[in-house]
Amino acid sequence: MSSNDIIVSLDIGTSKVRAIIGEMNDGAINIIGVGSADSEGIRKGAIVDIDQTVKSIRSAVEHAERMVGIQISDVYVGIQGNHIGLQTNHGVVAVSNEDREIGEEDIERVLQAAKVVALPPEREIINLVPKQYLVDGLEGISDPRGMIGVRLEVEATIVTGAKTAIHNLMRCVEKAGLRISGVILLSLASGMMSLTKDERSIGTVLADIGAGSCTIAVFEQGGLAAVSSLPIGGEFVTNDIAYGLRTQTEHAEKFKLKYGCASAADAADDVKFKVMRMGTNLEKEFTQRDLASIIEPRMQEIFQLIRQEVRRLGYGDKVNGYVLTGGAAALPGTVALAQAELEATVRVALPDYIGVKDSAYSSGVGMIQYVSKFMGAKGAGAMKKASSRKASSPATSKPGMFERIKNMFNEFI
Ligand SMILES: Nc1ncnc2c1ncn2[C@@H]1O[C@H](COP(=O)(O)OP(=O)(O)OP(=O)(O)O)[C@@H](O)[C@H]1O
Ligand SMILES: [Mg+2]
Repeated sequence: MSSNDIIVSLDIGTSKVRAIIGEMNDGAINIIGVGSADSEGIRKGAIVDIDQTVKSIRSAVEHAERMVGIQISDVYVGIQGNHIGLQTNHGVVAVSNEDREIGEEDIERVLQAAKVVALPPEREIINLVPKQYLVDGLEGISDPRGMIGVRLEVEATIVTGAKTAIHNLMRCVEKAGLRISGVILLSLASGMMSLTKDERSIGTVLADIGAGSCTIAVFEQGGLAAVSSLPIGGEFVTNDIAYGLRTQTEHAEKFKLKYGCASAADAADDVKFKVMRMGTNLEKEFTQRDLASIIEPRMQEIFQLIRQEVRRLGYGDKVNGYVLTGGAAALPGTVALAQAELEATVRVALPDYIGVKDSAYSSGVGMIQYVSKFMGAKGAGAMKKASSRKASSPATSKPGMFERIKNMFNEFI
């Protein structure tokens, strides 16, 4: 197996860091390793403590390495957050070949041209997603390779982010001893995995409800049209449970995962559990219905906020349905509750691979699919036999961070 057959994704979330190892086999993807670690140092999706985040990354990566018996050296890193912005841009070039046949190099040049955009100094481009190509004014071309023409144009969506957030994320990954093959907007990756082609074209909202943040991405006409991030998620539900049952957050989280249900009406009165009350050594018994009556209003609020945000983005009436991912969407009863609050069709998307059939893995698995499809797994998350990581000193063997970011963006199509 060559190193290019392996792609490793890293999803650094508020509650968990997840490393997923994908193996390419004649175009098919196998998920061969998964590692996750509790995330320390992230609040509401943003890095607040570099050292803690580095530890969590190392721990998730080592976990995945042990599972597969390889050493991970290169990773694709997911990014999200309220600093992400989208804009559209247009690039034009003259076809260079004498015979006017459009080649790889013309596409590369037109994409470079589409990247020329005035950005405030504190922002930079993360991804460039071509929406359509035009050849001599003829619209709607998805792949102009091999076509004949004089003038090649592209309409592209540019994903930008705050430099500070991007650099901090990259710094953490590098401090964990890993090389970054690319940075990918998690919504793009999740959209790839979770939505059908039809859903991407008709106007669908993908909501990734994590622990500390909820990322909303609107897809229409085949691509990403809007993104937004709200500081809400499963952590709020856990905190409500901790208050409601007067217990510690970690116990509240366990009860939520074991007995949680989004709808009080569907919860059972005969499913009971004992809770150690905070500040005492007394236990009190609660039913699943008690628990659900704490969870339900918070989940309703989360979906009301999602709906409001979709309206604010200007897609209130244009949305045909919602697809949910993220760990918090795994709570039983969520689909029915979301359907009632959003007044639209709702489904939960989860990866269809053994070992990662959980909506919390959608973005990580999506990244592997995205890389294999759109980036040709260039410089894919290579694996190396033990000892190589320490042998190549990150400080001396690599170009500076800024140079690498620039190189990396050049690869992005
Ligand atoms: N089966 C389940 N039932 C209810 N909640 C769940 C379940 N599985 C996971 N969760 C909740 O999902 C949240 C974690 O989701 P996820 O792993 O997608 O978040 P994250 O990526 O770490 O955070 P974020 O994306 O907000 O930065 C936690 O609040 C957890 O309690
Ligand atoms: Mg997440």
